[in-house]
Amino acid sequence: MKLWGGNYDAAPDAVFWEFNRSFPFDRRLVREEIAASGAWVRALGRCGAIPAADVATLERGLAEVVAKLRADPNYLELDVEDVHSFVEERLSEVVGELAGQAHLGRSRNEQTVTALRLFAKGAIDALARGLATLVTTLVQQGQSGADAVMPGYTHTRAAEPISFGFWAAAHAWGLVRDRERLRDARVRVDVLPLGSGALAGASLPLDREAMAKDLGFAAVSPAALDAVMDRDFAVELVSCCAQVQTHLARLAEDLIHFASPEYGFVTLPEAFTTGSSLMPQKKNPDALELVRGKTARVDADLLRLLVLLKGLPAGYQKDLQEDKEAVFDAVDTATGSLAVMTGVVAGLGLHRDVMRAAAGQQELMAAGLAVALAREGMPFRKAHQLVGTLVAEAQQSGRSLKQVASERLATLSPGVAARLDVLFDPLQAVKAKSLVGGAAPDAVRVSLEAALARLHP
Ligand code: ARG
Repeated sequence: MKLWGGNYDAAPDAVFWEFNRSFPFDRRLVREEIAASGAWVRALGRCGAIPAADVATLERGLAEVVAKLRADPNYLELDVEDVHSFVEERLSEVVGELAGQAHLGRSRNEQTVTALRLFAKGAIDALARGLATLVTTLVQQGQSGADAVMPGYTHTRAAEPISFGFWAAAHAWGLVRDRERLRDARVRVDVLPLGSGALAGASLPLDREAMAKDLGFAAVSPAALDAVMDRDFAVELVSCCAQVQTHLARLAEDLIHFASPEYGFVTLPEAFTTGSSLMPQKKNPDALELVRGKTARVDADLLRLLVLLKGLPAGYQKDLQEDKEAVFDAVDTATGSLAVMTGVVAGLGLHRDVMRAAAGQQELMAAGLAVALAREGMPFRKAHQLVGTLVAEAQQSGRSLKQVASERLATLSPGVAARLDVLFDPLQAVKAKSLVGGAAPDAVRVSLEAALARLHP
């Protein structure tokens, strides 16, 4: 069934018909479209535009369409233009010509954006749940590794000792903010466009507030022309997905290295790795590489939307049909990546001994040594310079930094020289970072708990 054509002589060109169809992808919105149609029909009944008996028939018809959808996967196979045409056609098979009344005064321009907003709300809730699960998993692993010392890196060079828990907290916090961003965005998604007509609003005396309540929207759109042309809610959602994906990619990147034989800090759960068809020894971090790689598509989805929108004049244009696949792809990719990442993090095996050995490299304590000297009265720049010469001397002579320090500092700073055992103990170095947000195990535990608490504001 075509929803238009009264003024047409020719049938659509076959190639163009396929080109024009959105049903191959917007069929995904069929539940949302049916829900919105139900709310529209009830609103028509409430304002007296159609009799109560027709409302009941149409509602029963829509329920039957839902039942058939559930029962028969092939029910969706129909050569229609879009999901709106699909619902109208299937409804007409059930209730006959009355199906047309479900569209009394309603434009697909408002329907498509209503369905997409409903989808976006569900997607946000699913993403928020996925984020909460991953944050919880990172927090659990972090708590168990709050005192598992390992090197922290800057410029990919070992810098200072931290702990596995401190590292986990860093990744958890980014995801906590992502979840909050999604919740913020949800407020702007949660707006009902129905009642906007094609662009100028509806001429029926509809109660839009009641319709919003019926469909579970928190507010009604305040400007009809804006409501049909606005896709900034979609940009915001996809932007949140891109940010999530970026955080996941960075987490993946760390784990790819930490799990490599060269680092050996963690073992990845076998179920999330794959073997090589040639090299029998391999267990490759494909899950993590794919999470990192799929970031490209979510970023592209965001760009796709922004570029799609930039030159459009006010009002609905068919260009906007191109919005949906970008949204679906970004949401699917981020949701799937969160689930995979949760599995990987939950199954990580920590190798505390390996991490500790790497964190025990004495040069990682150089900054701590300089600070200790300065606290004994040596100007910090001088202390920094001095420790630099100790490092160079150790490297050139093949002795350990601690050994060189103990010789050179015996007279220069006896107080520090006496505390070298503590200063060169990586766990003690970590414990010294006890300020809020620092790497000390107690501070890490507090930080991890706070991250968890932010999931339940
Ligand atoms: N399939 C269209 C879309 O996704 C629905 C709206 C069509 N409206 C129209 N006036 N052609 O945007």
